[in-house]
Amino acid sequence: MKNKILVIGGAGYIGSHVQKQLLEEGFDVIVYDNLSSGDIINILVGSKFIKGDILDYNQLKNVMCDNIDGVIHLAAKKAVGESMIKPEIYATNNISGSINILNAMVECGVKNIVFSSSAAVYGMPLYSPIDEKHPINPINYYGYTKRCIEENMEWYANLGKINFASLRYFNAVGYADDKSIQGKERNPQNLLPIIMEVATNKRDCLSIYGNDYDTTDGTCIRDYVHVSDLAKAHTKAIKKLINENTSFILNLGTGIGTSVKEIVDATQKVIGKKINYVYSDRRSGDPAILTACADKADELLGWKPEYTDIEDIIKTVWNLEI
Ligand code: UFG
Repeated sequence: MKNKILVIGGAGYIGSHVQKQLLEEGFDVIVYDNLSSGDIINILVGSKFIKGDILDYNQLKNVMCDNIDGVIHLAAKKAVGESMIKPEIYATNNISGSINILNAMVECGVKNIVFSSSAAVYGMPLYSPIDEKHPINPINYYGYTKRCIEENMEWYANLGKINFASLRYFNAVGYADDKSIQGKERNPQNLLPIIMEVATNKRDCLSIYGNDYDTTDGTCIRDYVHVSDLAKAHTKAIKKLINENTSFILNLGTGIGTSVKEIVDATQKVIGKKINYVYSDRRSGDPAILTACADKADELLGWKPEYTDIEDIIKTVWNLEI
């Protein structure tokens, strides 16, 4: 019997890649998504799609009670800046919505959940690379919502209600190299999608937020992890939950730091043309360096990122444009 996985937020950027990986590994896939930021073109052949909102508890419960073996929950608002201006939107979607999912699981007797968490739970890094023992101190409301749900999952797990895997992503980038996922995020806020908009003349110029950080070239360093590698960690995690009745929290990153300027240079090399950029002021809340120690993901899941070369990663994004 195939395991049936409910992918909540499965029409989004990371969710669609998770959907693809699950299908390739022979799972039955049901996608539940309200399409607020996800895209119907991200629903892959083989998946069953249900349009629905995590705030609609009755609909969610009906879907959950249909013999689901595991949930992968990626439905969330994720703009860090917006979370500081309109926290109420994040409280409702990310906190209330996730509590609805946990409660529907308990009501329907569904035990296993893989949750999209974020390096944002750590706040300003006290050291780098960051391991899971690093103190938790989110400095934006978005990061707080992720930690809040981790804490609730810890409680529910300790009370014997669920098994959970919380996956703390660092900077997710790239697209499936077979171009099977074509949906681009609307109004992108992240570095590489913005660079691609400059490269394709949808935007005039990239603003690099600060060149006076204490790094090799003065621009911020991040850990860019390919979305197909992230997707593989999700299938490994759900299998472990189903087979071993356990719970865990993991970082997902490469351990490799790349500066904003290095990303710009690598993109120019890959696409063979110049990216217009200017240096502007620092963006508030940006740490100079944020990289992952993902040793625990290797120990627990046997997960290691396959993409370690930033140019290879950028090629998978540029491929969609050509
Ligand atoms: N950057 C620019 N110009 C831009 C956009 C970004 O210089 O127009 C810089 C940022 O200052 C940062 C780097 O590019 O140094 C990456 O920025 P992103 O906005 O792409 O990503 P962040 O590192 O800020 O945030 C990401 C996720 C968050 C998550 C965080 C946790 O987007 O959801 O990682 O590690 F919370």
